[in-house]
Amino acid sequence: MDKLDAKKRIQNLRAEIARLRNAYHVENSPNVTDDVYESLTRELKNLLIEFPEFKDENSNENRIAGKPLDKFVKVEHKIRMLSLNDVFSFEELEDWGNRVKKLLVTDKINYFCEVKFDGLAVSLIYEDGKFVRGATRGDGSIGEDITENLKMIGSIPLSLIRRGVQGEVNSVPTFIEVRGEILMSKKTLISLNKKNDSEGKTIFANTRNAAAGSVRQLDPQLAKERNLDFSAYDIAEVKFTSPKPSPYQGEGELLTHSDKHKLLKQLGFPVDEHDAICKNLGEVEDFIKKFEKIRPDFKFGTDGIVISVDDLKLQETLGVVGKAPRYMAAFKYPAERATTIVKDIKVNVGRTGVLTPLAIFEPTLVAGSTVSKATLHNIEQIERLDLRIGDTVVIQKAGDVIPEVVEVLVKMRTGKEKKFNMPKVCPACGTKIEKKEGLVASFCPNPKCNAKNERYLDFFVSVFGIYELGPKILRRFKDEGLITDAGDIFTLQKEDIAPLERFGEKSAENIINEINLKKKISLSKFLWALGILHVGEETARDLAQEFGTLEKLISIVRQDLTQIAEIENIGPAVSKSLHDYFSDSHNIAFIEKLKKNGVTIEKVEKKQAGKFNGMTFVLTGTLATMSRELAKEKILAHGGKVAGSVSKNTSYVVAGEEAGSKLTNAQKLGVKVLTENEFLKML
Ligand code: IVH
Repeated sequence: MDKLDAKKRIQNLRAEIARLRNAYHVENSPNVTDDVYESLTRELKNLLIEFPEFKDENSNENRIAGKPLDKFVKVEHKIRMLSLNDVFSFEELEDWGNRVKKLLVTDKINYFCEVKFDGLAVSLIYEDGKFVRGATRGDGSIGEDITENLKMIGSIPLSLIRRGVQGEVNSVPTFIEVRGEILMSKKTLISLNKKNDSEGKTIFANTRNAAAGSVRQLDPQLAKERNLDFSAYDIAEVKFTSPKPSPYQGEGELLTHSDKHKLLKQLGFPVDEHDAICKNLGEVEDFIKKFEKIRPDFKFGTDGIVISVDDLKLQETLGVVGKAPRYMAAFKYPAERATTIVKDIKVNVGRTGVLTPLAIFEPTLVAGSTVSKATLHNIEQIERLDLRIGDTVVIQKAGDVIPEVVEVLVKMRTGKEKKFNMPKVCPACGTKIEKKEGLVASFCPNPKCNAKNERYLDFFVSVFGIYELGPKILRRFKDEGLITDAGDIFTLQKEDIAPLERFGEKSAENIINEINLKKKISLSKFLWALGILHVGEETARDLAQEFGTLEKLISIVRQDLTQIAEIENIGPAVSKSLHDYFSDSHNIAFIEKLKKNGVTIEKVEKKQAGKFNGMTFVLTGTLATMSRELAKEKILAHGGKVAGSVSKNTSYVVAGEEAGSKLTNAQKLGVKVLTENEFLKML
């Protein structure tokens, strides 16, 4: 074949492979056998070996696993990846619907319903139709770059071709960020677990863990072998160069969430076909009931239905509160239940010293995974259930919820069941346990308790992101006397580690390099890593934002606790716990040790003032696009204040339809009056 013929043949092969790919992954109508697809792909690959000048790194047939990575690079999401508010019944769904209607002051709302997949959320970025970056959700703001692994997933297009309703080819966006879920089918999970079991490897509890675990492998070849899938559900951002009419309304101008789904499909993304536009909540409920019947046989794990207000303008009006949009809700199907026998109750010592009773079961299948233990939280829970060792119990598990004991089948008792008492001493170190005022939990107060310190060490290292130091290595270092607490990690030397059996120069060097790299830490991570009771990831972030430095926080904790309790999202329990922590000289000594050993804490700029800071608004009349309540919230969110009456201190009066005396007062006092439109522009 000469070069010109080869070029033509390659073009044709690519187009045909793309068409088949689309039929298989997007249209769900595999009108061709795998053999044909593979045969065409093989021919293309061979031709490209002969004519490498026609290779295209981003073409869809080019899925060759790259080299394993050393670690995942962090990436920032320009548009935050949010989470969803859950509703657990039709009643709660109607409450949500009523809130939405009230805020939008209209009854005419279309709802879009779609399946809620149980997988791992990812963001995919395409520039000029080429897949350039894929990332995990992470904490919503910062995720990990997993591009190479995602390239191994057949249903993720590497380059986009856009087909309209008649199959015609339309223009592709210059930029698009697609959001969707990485999935493992139930069938794949079963065979993977079978294989792993026979090889003595990890058994995954559900499709979500398996999908997440597979996509976070550093070696793309492993990700490839896991046979993952993808389903798209949202477009975070899209840009076209030349706006022109298109089947979904107007290119570049998406009007509804369902338009987004249409565009995703046209671009070659798999979008699940179980969706519907519903005119009212009654129709939404019918949709939920209908899918519940299909659910057990559905190819992928699902835990509910996502319901969105379809109109994107209305979505914008409703906005986001905290981490979740107000225009969406996730209906969760009720948890599945099963019965089992409690073989034993064990007690775990956590990183803060809290003792947690744990029920050990006869392994039982529930909601698609085998359950062999469940936390009982505390002694009160055991008493409430009247749970005894040997009891037959009902356990339940919702898609993403840890299994729990919900009921004891008292009638099944034989009389041999044994009552359980919390131990009087710590099961790990023998110290007499204590109770903290106002809390049900029992604590091991011993600062030297081995179990507690080990748990804390694991936690500390994971917050610092020192991935080289897994629990086993930490145990080993402790046994070898290299470390006694987390502070010692930062003075480890290569020479300490290299001579240890199974380590050597190279791995010692990797460990030390990573520790040095992670010595510099943000204030929020540092606070979180201290393991202060009630100070989790989010609270730590709020505290860091508010105080900027550790010194400032400590000094306020010592002087004026009320100031802390007044911060948004932070209440008296957190402030008390901060006070207890920073009053303990052991803790202060630990912080000093970390700093002395080279940990540096990055200073945080204080929260930027909102654009309405220092401004007072007065609302009057009826607004057309939102309720006054919502308008107030929006003003507050931007740092402004809302007053009930006009004075000379009022910055703006926002006047809707039929504005009354407040408007006349404003005119008298010379206060600036805004129309609703002007106000919206300011927002
Ligand atoms: S919408 C607003 N649609 O659910 C952010 N999410 O609980 C939610 N999920 O992180 C995006 N299927 O991982 C949306 N059809 C679907 C979904 C879906 C699964 C996951 C997603 C998200 C989580 C939020």
